[in-house]
Amino acid sequence: MKKYIILLLTLAFSSFIFAQKGNTFPHLAKSGTVTQLIVNDKPFLILGGELGNSSAASGEDIERIFPKLQRMGLNTVLVPAYWDLIEPTEGSYDFSLVDKAIKQTRENDLKIVFLWFGAWKNSMSCYAPLWFKKDYKKYPRANTKAGKPLEIASSFSENVYQADNRAFSQLMKYIASIDKEEGTVIMVQIENEIGMLEDARDYSAEANKLFNESVPEVLINYLNKNKNTLHPQMLEKWEKQGFKKKGNWQEIFGADLYTDEIFMAWSYARYVEKLAQTARSMHNIPLYVNAAMNSRNRKPGEYPSAGPLAHLVDIWHCGAPNIDILAPDLYDGFVDWVAKYKLHNNPLFIPEIKLSDSNGAQAFYVFGEHDAIGFCPFSIENGSDSERSPLVQSYAKLRELMPLLTEHQGKNTMNGLYFDKENQKRIIYRDDLRITCRHFFTLPWDSRATDGSKWPEGGGIILRLAKDEYIIAGSGIVVEFEKTDENKAIDAKELGEDGFASTGKNDRKEQIWNSSSRCGIGPVDEISVNKDGTFGYIRRLNGDQTHQGRHVRIGVDDFSILHVKLYEYK
Ligand code: DGJ
Repeated sequence: MKKYIILLLTLAFSSFIFAQKGNTFPHLAKSGTVTQLIVNDKPFLILGGELGNSSAASGEDIERIFPKLQRMGLNTVLVPAYWDLIEPTEGSYDFSLVDKAIKQTRENDLKIVFLWFGAWKNSMSCYAPLWFKKDYKKYPRANTKAGKPLEIASSFSENVYQADNRAFSQLMKYIASIDKEEGTVIMVQIENEIGMLEDARDYSAEANKLFNESVPEVLINYLNKNKNTLHPQMLEKWEKQGFKKKGNWQEIFGADLYTDEIFMAWSYARYVEKLAQTARSMHNIPLYVNAAMNSRNRKPGEYPSAGPLAHLVDIWHCGAPNIDILAPDLYDGFVDWVAKYKLHNNPLFIPEIKLSDSNGAQAFYVFGEHDAIGFCPFSIENGSDSERSPLVQSYAKLRELMPLLTEHQGKNTMNGLYFDKENQKRIIYRDDLRITCRHFFTLPWDSRATDGSKWPEGGGIILRLAKDEYIIAGSGIVVEFEKTDENKAIDAKELGEDGFASTGKNDRKEQIWNSSSRCGIGPVDEISVNKDGTFGYIRRLNGDQTHQGRHVRIGVDDFSILHVKLYEYK
């Protein structure tokens, strides 16, 4: 009893000291309609990048890479923690690489997210230590339908879970021991791209037995309670079976590959939930899992079946309630996938996206359109650290914009823009305005717009500060403002760069102007945004740079932040 009281007092005292420093653990918090990541007591956007798989496996590499990441303008790096290097011999642990990564993170003014490469990495168990792999009797493998054992540990095995969880808990304990005060580690990813390959589910003896048993009541209750918001595919499968409340997996969801996938997702989610509980009990910071997308018409098992995929969101939410975010890895497709992961119950975090020159524009889009928590190109160490690189320019501006963006998240005052040659235009309505946003190359005045060059992606954010006051930021965009009731039919002629009609034919008809008022563009200032959210003047843009007051634009080679005031005239 005495011991217990001393422990309580110590805990109370340390949380008092902690609170005194105004320093809570990184955590997620609701703000309006969105979830924000809070770091050092402030909403934070991860302007990140994930290291290539083998780039944190040597202290020298870590020392070489991290300063470059700082030069690139990242504020966060995602770094694997490798089970095979952490526990090369069963029961003895080596955290030297983790330690080195945390030190380098601090030295380079970054934050870090660790990726637990434990039992599964891209479906496979390649990061399990050799002692684990060799002892396949104790640590059984998933089997295909044909009975072939795979290099995939079975999620149905208690021994697999015990070994994985023991090493993971050591990692969390280590992080807690060196990072409770500083909060350098802001999130942890559990496993990497979990999913069953070759077949949609594991056919090991234990898996087969459970497949024929009843679907757990907790899942049925969840489906029932959330019937109105279930993913359409989930709802349809259950509906086809008459919304049954009792039965085995095939009775509840029908006999097909997608039921096998649901069963398997439940197994993975329950497994991950146990690791998440371990993490929370050791060091309570946000936790997420990432998913390989189910693209190009492949069936479960042809793609990694049962990961935290959009159509399995209900299974994962119910099975792993201690996981905060289900996160998409994006290598194919962008706009459609991000929309599928920004849900009322799932904030958007992109832990991996293919490293490319489009990343700068993509980052603007996800923060503006989907209130994203973070954006991280993969194998970031291979990106350019030149000041002119799109990502470096984009992150520099987004870093400035962070106080403004986090203040506006969840308030429905922002839109993200993303344009390419196929998707050139978007119209946004705000107050009494029709705001037409287009790709910069829809102005045909830059020869690259028409000479067959690839159109670089345009991306931006339109943020409404007040009626008639906007921030327009990004790259490769043109924005025009009109009153919604303006009579568009009148004088709708194409204008050249000089403002003359592009074609000179005199085909004017008698027209009567009958709209109530027009919207004019007042000052357009390129600005910087200070840490406290106030603006710094860089330059006034007028004349040719606004097409003599007709539009606001940012060229494809630049990223900038513009402060725009509008006015009304009749
Ligand atoms: C997605 C995985 O999550 C990464 O670890 C990496 O393997 C990339 N695919 C592709 O290289």
